Amino acid sequence: MRDFDVWVRSELDAVESALSAWVPAETPAGLGLAMRYGVLDGGKRVRPLLVLAAAEAVGGSRELALRAACAVELIHAYSLIHDDMPSMDNDVLRRGKPTVHVQFGEAVAMLAGDAMQALAFEVLTPDEGVPIDLQARWCSLLARASGYAGMAGGQAIDLASVGKVLSENELRLMHGLKTGALLRASVVMGAACAPSHPQAQQALLDFGDAIGLAFQVVDDILDVTQASETLGKTAGKDEHANKPTYVSILGLETAIQYSMTLREQALAALDRSGLQRAGYLRALADKVVQRES
Ligand code: IPE
Ligand code: IPE
Ligand code: MG
Ligand code: MG
Ligand code: MG
Repeated sequence: MRDFDVWVRSELDAVESALSAWVPAETPAGLGLAMRYGVLDGGKRVRPLLVLAAAEAVGGSRELALRAACAVELIHAYSLIHDDMPSMDNDVLRRGKPTVHVQFGEAVAMLAGDAMQALAFEVLTPDEGVPIDLQARWCSLLARASGYAGMAGGQAIDLASVGKVLSENELRLMHGLKTGALLRASVVMGAACAPSHPQAQQALLDFGDAIGLAFQVVDDILDVTQASETLGKTAGKDEHANKPTYVSILGLETAIQYSMTLREQALAALDRSGLQRAGYLRALADKVVQRES
């Protein structure tokens, strides 16, 4: 296997080129410009990297995995556009730039998100090149992770929880849905690119659950420990908006400890998988917990 940093650089380039090819500039009334602004040239691309690393772990085709990687990133970028809108978190800065609604207006931002959600499923279902059963499996996984029982459902709980004190279980459910579901789906969609042993599949699911929750715990931590310039989004928003987070419920130190426990759980799951080529997934687990933005 190539060195992790070399691998990351080449995969980030591939994801950027593929997204640029799939998200058109030429669309009615310039909608594509807002879509491209929202998804290109920014973001850490953690979800695409998880898809590609999971495919690598099971020996799946990279060309296939690149489609799934871009589809998940389209859903994620759409969720950020809507998350930032005035009726949700009302943020003006994202990925170091003005948010899509600030740049293009609210109606265009809403439609760009809608169109990116649809485009994700178009990317997964080309006329040629992807076996029909894989198309169906991908669509099912991504639809469930994005909808009422996944990201959108979690976002609804998030908005309904403003000003409330949630129990740790309620918080885990909210984070698991709004953020965890899409990260878990990234791992499973990558792993779907080739057959693997049921034990490995279960272990990858467990890995996805742990890393998915860890990702949002760390997001809550960074919101209080980092500056806006580092994050590329406004820091300190959660407290300001009165959102229940792992930091507000557990305190900063315990939240940091918990993120490390989740990393251990993720790595233990990889050990159980018996997969020999899980090194990139392992390195991504570290990146998720040790990141600074
Ligand atoms: C931010 O996600 C929103 C959450 C789900 C926590 P990322 O931290 O992955 O944002 P980008 O893609 O790098 O901008
Ligand atoms: C967002 O959670 C989760 C999404 C589904 C987009 P946050 O609202 O905490 O994400 P940031 O901090 O704005 O990136
Ligand atoms: Mg939010
Ligand atoms: Mg937000
Ligand atoms: Mg946040």
